[in-house]
Amino acid sequence: MIFTVAIDGPAAAGKGTIGRAVAERFGFAHLDTGLLYRAVGAKVADGADPVQAARGLAPEDLGRGDLRSAAAGQAASQVAAIPEVRQALVTFQREFARREGGAVLDGRDIGTVICPEAEVKLYVTASDEVRAHRRWLELREKDAEISEAAVLEDLRARDRRDSERAAAPLRPAEDALLLDTTELSISAAVQKAVEAIEERIGQGRA
Ligand code: DC
Repeated sequence: MIFTVAIDGPAAAGKGTIGRAVAERFGFAHLDTGLLYRAVGAKVADGADPVQAARGLAPEDLGRGDLRSAAAGQAASQVAAIPEVRQALVTFQREFARREGGAVLDGRDIGTVICPEAEVKLYVTASDEVRAHRRWLELREKDAEISEAAVLEDLRARDRRDSERAAAPLRPAEDALLLDTTELSISAAVQKAVEAIEERIGQGRA
């Protein structure tokens, strides 16, 4: 079965958690596409050319231990604004999306650019403050000094860059189901996502 779940939204909205949960539930493969841009950003921080880094991205680059930091997020957002970097990563993401057995991809442009034909599209968001609080709780485990205000500022700067860039900016696909996790718990959001997927699978069989 070819079945793609496209999950887009701003940083720390819960896309990854929802993506992993629905992938496990349906036995689909999951790709966190942010990790691709984080890996390119990390190579650039080590001195590589962004376009060469994207073209030469290898599986082991995604296993680096430093990709989850706030600095890696900013570096990712910067290289993600370069059209040739995005272009270099398109084929891998498209093939992953249409692989046999079903796939869940989360990112910024999955429902709009990478896989506009996705069977289910979700746009996951939450208020800036709620997202910053969640990300701060995660980052604090590795960096006890980090302040919530700094995380909020960092997240807003990244969202602005991701939304305002010319190449594949962050925006909801017209046919995306909106999941606002400001008030909705992540488990309730997962439940809504599961229902949307089950409904679509049911339509396919009808
Ligand atoms: O999802 P994330 O926070 O790990 O993503 C890091 C950065 O990568 C994000 O700020 C913008 C970029 N990105 C993108 O431009 N397109 C995607 N599909 C995924 C991430």
